[in-house]
Formats: sequence, structure tokens, C-alpha cells
Amino acid sequence: MSGRLQYKSALVTGAGSGIGMEASILFAQEGASILLADINLVAIEKVAALISSRSPNVKAIALKTDVSKEADIRAAVDKAVAEFGRLDIMFNNAGIMHPEDDNALNTEERIWDLTMQINVKGVWWGCKYAILAMRNNATDESKGLHVGGSIINTASFVGTMGAATPQIAYTSSKGAVLAMTRELAMVHAREGVRVNSISPGPLKTPLLMEFLNTPEKKERRMTHLPMGRFGEAVEIAKAALFLATDESSYMTGTDLKVDGGLTSAYVTALGEPVLPPPTSLAA
Ligand SMILES: NC(=O)c1ccc[n+]([C@@H]2O[C@H](COP(=O)([O-])OP(=O)(O)OC[C@H]3O[C@@H](n4cnc5c(N)ncnc54)[C@H](O)[C@@H]3O)[C@@H](O)[C@H]2O)c1
Repeated sequence: MSGRLQYKSALVTGAGSGIGMEASILFAQEGASILLADINLVAIEKVAALISSRSPNVKAIALKTDVSKEADIRAAVDKAVAEFGRLDIMFNNAGIMHPEDDNALNTEERIWDLTMQINVKGVWWGCKYAILAMRNNATDESKGLHVGGSIINTASFVGTMGAATPQIAYTSSKGAVLAMTRELAMVHAREGVRVNSISPGPLKTPLLMEFLNTPEKKERRMTHLPMGRFGEAVEIAKAALFLATDESSYMTGTDLKVDGGLTSAYVTALGEPVLPPPTSLAA
């Protein structure tokens, strides 16, 4: 077996659905052992079973993890190191968009606090314990293994763009992820630890589709999407794979925008897209 992540080990948070699920399947296809971390144990057990059936040569372990709890993240990193001997890739991807998140006037403090606890503190702790583990990674050039590793944080286009369909807590949390990623990248740049973020555009995943639960709400966004469609989680997973491998060895502190052109848009084209979206790796 060979692959772009052969001999490496990865921890993916929010691995039970959407981006995290697609990334876990893809990383495993490329040879990585995977620790699947999610608050939804049933979901990650299913993903682990799918990976084991498709990629029997890699280990896939599901561990119930609430990223809003520091002890849970620490336990997940410890488990990955205990099972796989090292941690090369940390994908801090779990996040929420609360249905009661609204503008600055209407949003309740508990919604703000919950969002920050998961989307910001969860990423901070994920980075903290990953960096500590990555410092201990042994170097073996014959296997392409080295000290340090790659940390990837899922931000969002709303971290850099304004929306008149407000979610004040979510937007603020993603701005924090962008800022945190840049600073961590600078602090750890000479330790072999790279820290990058991905800013997905709006995706057809449960997180957004449950929020945009009427045709009007979907259409309000669609006008602004240059490609005339929402993104697919697998398209973000492929960008995460690039950041996870040493193919991106000179990238740190970067925000990789995978948004179908959204952040370059002023007036978008008319008509239906000629290309179909890619299909899920779970299909
Ligand atoms: N869907 C989009 O349009 C979009 C756009 C930009 C950024 N994002 C970001 O992408 C990331 C993944 O989102 P997705 O679209 O794949 O969502 P999703 O809802 O499909 O998956 C999120 C996963 O995170 C898990 N999760 C939620 N709270 C958790 C917690 N406290 N601890 C551990 N796991 C938890 C859920 O159980 C779920 O499996 C999020 O950070 C989200 O903010 C999504």
C-alpha cells in the first residue's frame, strides 16, 4: 500500500459528518491511521467501519469527544499517540452554527458562549495538545516522517466577509480561528509545526442546510455564488489533504479559501452550472 499520507497518523474532529467525515475517509485512503473524534459516537463508529472495510490496512478508531472540553481533547490526542505512536496531522474541524445565533441585538449570551466554547476554545485546545504531541514525533526519513506536523483549522468565508444574514457569534468565532491560526503559525514555525486554516464557502452539509431550511433562504445565498451551486464537503477535504501532506511544506499561516470564487465576487454570472458537483466519498 502507498499513499500521500502513508505511515502518518491524523486526528480529525467533527469526523462524524460533512467535511470531517469526507476528510477522514480521504486521509485513510491515502494511508493515514485516523482517530475520529466527534460528540456523536454513533456517527463516527459508522465512519470508522466504512474506513475499515475500504482501507483494511489502516487503523480507524472512533472516540467520543466533546471539543468544548479540554480534558476530552487531551484524551483524544493521547489516544492517537498511544495507538499510532505519533500525531502528524491535526484537523480541528468541529464547529457549530446555532439556530438561535442572530444579530448583535437579538443573540443571547448563552448562544455566544456556547459557540465560542466549541468553535474557538475547541480549536485552541486542539492546537495546544497537537503541538505538544508533534514535538515528540520521531524522524524517519526513509518513511517520510519527521518531527512536527500539520495543523489545519476550519474557519469560514464569514471570517473575512460581511453578511446581512447575521450570525454574530459564529462569524466572530471564525474570525478568531483565522487570527489564532496566524499567530500559532508564527510561534511554532521553526519547530516543524505548520498551522494553516481553510475557509470553506457555503456547503451542502447538514450544518448549513438545516439553517437554510426554506427555498427563499437558499436562493438568498445562491445569487452570490459564482459557480451557481453550494460547495461539497469532499471539495474541502481535498484541500485539507494538500495541507496535511508535505506537498504544502512551505505553507504556514495561510488561509486557503475553498469557496467557488465567493471571496472574489462582485457580480456573478447567470445560468446553470455546466459541471456537476463531485460525489461524496461515503457514497
Ligand atoms: N457547511 C458550511 O457551509 C460551512 C462553511 C464554512 C465553514 N464550515 C465549518 O466547517 C466545519 C465542519 O462543518 P460541516 O459543514 O462539515 O458540519 P456538519 O454539521 O456536517 O459536521 C459537524 C460535525 O461536528 C460535530 N460536532 C458538533 N459539536 C461538536 C463538539 N462539541 N465536539 C465534537 N464534535 C462536535 C457534529 O456532531 C458533526 O458530526 C465547521 O467548523 C463549520 O463551521 C462549514
